Amino acid sequence: MGWVLRRRDHGGVIFIDLRDRHGLTQIVFNPAVSEEVHAKAHQLRSEWVLAVRGRVVLRPGEMANPKLATGAIEILVDELRILNTSETPPFPLDEEVEVSDTLRLQYRYLDLRRPEMAANLIIRHKAVQAIRTYLNGNAFLEIETPMLTRSTPEGARDYLVPSRVNAGKFYALPQSPQLFKQLLMIAGMDRYYQIVKCFRDEDLRADRQPEFTQIDMELSFVDEEQIITVTEGMIASLFRETRGLDVAPPFKRITYDQAIARFGTDRPDMRFGFEIVDLTGIASGCGFKVFRDIADAGGIVRAINAKNCAGFSRKDLDGLTEFAMQFGAKGLAWVKMKADGEWQSPIAKFFSDGERAEIALALGAVEGDLLFFGADKPAVVCQVLGELRSELARRLSLLPKDVFNFVWVTDFPLMEYDEKEKRFQALHHPFTAPRDEDIEKLDKDPASVYSRAYDLVLNGTEIGGGSIRIHRKDVQMQVLGALSIGEEEARDKFGFLLRALELGAPPHGGIAFGLDRLLMIITGSSSIRDVIAFPKTQKATCPLTEAPAAVSRKQLTELYLRPDWKE
Ligand code: AMO
Ligand code: AMP
Repeated sequence: MGWVLRRRDHGGVIFIDLRDRHGLTQIVFNPAVSEEVHAKAHQLRSEWVLAVRGRVVLRPGEMANPKLATGAIEILVDELRILNTSETPPFPLDEEVEVSDTLRLQYRYLDLRRPEMAANLIIRHKAVQAIRTYLNGNAFLEIETPMLTRSTPEGARDYLVPSRVNAGKFYALPQSPQLFKQLLMIAGMDRYYQIVKCFRDEDLRADRQPEFTQIDMELSFVDEEQIITVTEGMIASLFRETRGLDVAPPFKRITYDQAIARFGTDRPDMRFGFEIVDLTGIASGCGFKVFRDIADAGGIVRAINAKNCAGFSRKDLDGLTEFAMQFGAKGLAWVKMKADGEWQSPIAKFFSDGERAEIALALGAVEGDLLFFGADKPAVVCQVLGELRSELARRLSLLPKDVFNFVWVTDFPLMEYDEKEKRFQALHHPFTAPRDEDIEKLDKDPASVYSRAYDLVLNGTEIGGGSIRIHRKDVQMQVLGALSIGEEEARDKFGFLLRALELGAPPHGGIAFGLDRLLMIITGSSSIRDVIAFPKTQKATCPLTEAPAAVSRKQLTELYLRPDWKE
């Protein structure tokens, strides 16, 4: 049984590729087998649903198709039942044609008939099985937490659900089970996991959905090392079971400060080089006024060496300058390295022979290389050069899909100053523990406090993040204070957690991985939509069900919402 993928008529014999989720089988209607069945087969069209019975035979020698799992055989049909007909599908399912994303999502059930999409769902199933098997084998308990709950601060906007029986009150859908998993540790559950939907109302991108799935974990009586070891084992078994690959933990580690300095981002893609090098010291004495002034005013000058790229054209360089300016760069000085340390560059004349040699040495630059410079405030230079690295890697095709480069980023700052809000914000979330030795700095110099947080980055995508948590009430209050969350606000928002910290909270910590992002990378997809059965568009809509949708006046009134829209 299956669906008609395509029909071919050859000299009176009809061939059909019959498709189901397992693949294709060629079925053959030959008048020599049955005149009646052959006559009936003439009407069959794409996507009709059939049941056939027949004899499995080897295909004649030269007709075998070694590329197909069933390519050695075909079925000579002697009985045909048409289970259903189908209109011509709105897009063909048997060819690589460009179909708009909206149309694919509107007819998602047809899109999912395509083998590559079906394969993604099958891999997703295997992934979830592998994770459960691994965690069950490591003494974790799978426990569900509520979907109708209170706001959990993870940094995004909440999806709210109005309450009918409590006038004027709202639930929030969880941005993560963070507070509940901490309460489960306080309840003595020891090792918890959940493969769980999370909801975040934020601007969407290729690797972000409004509802997505986390592999969420929490453990008691552990430190960073134990969490890293147990999750590396989980990731390894995930790759083994889905792709048959050995990703060979332990993974590399880099501190946050190092990641920013060398790669300009806390999500470094280390599949390729082009590391950032600091030249501020050299620049502060140089003859190029732009660089010198910036260096002397507390800015930085940094550069990357695009090895062997001196062949880039003027047009390439203008394109890259424009690219850099998107991220706030005021310019993108470049140097093409010629023979004998000579520079071909708009800024060559500003540098002495000695300075040129010093810069070349710092960047390991030799003839044929192309250097790019950024000079500005630290945050701008890091972002510009970080983005430029990735753009160069894309242009030079240095991003092999089958290389999986993992790196743990550790030692994050606990909080950073938000210029717009004029206060400190937690880099992870407010329940992340500061380093013990930094606790005393919380009041005087919060910006210098490091946290016990860690992220796992795969090929430049953050696939997971977690931390050791605060398990002492006094430390939690101190951190909330540094984040300008007053006692009253704290009690109002998560007083239940603060209370629980007073009733025997064990030391604990955990992590959550983005399952969709992991699968996007494992399957080589360009968007997390391709690994989700029924995803949403960039505008958080579902073209299939047309959600979100208007509701009746009656429903609104029942929920104590004012129905004052124009009908
Ligand atoms: P965090 O906010 O870092 O941590 O989320 C964990 C992981 O979830 C994935 N992720 C997303 N995936 C798809 N769409 C989104 N909108 C989206 N947002 C996040 C990312 C991310 O690394 N409670 C903490 C974890 C902890 O501390 O244990 C948390 O939610 O891959
Ligand atoms: P100018 O002297 O302004 O013509 O700049 C000379 C070169 O330096 C040009 O290639 C500019 O793109 C580059 N440039 C100017 N300002 C900066 C900056 N802040 N950072 C990096 N390059 C710059």
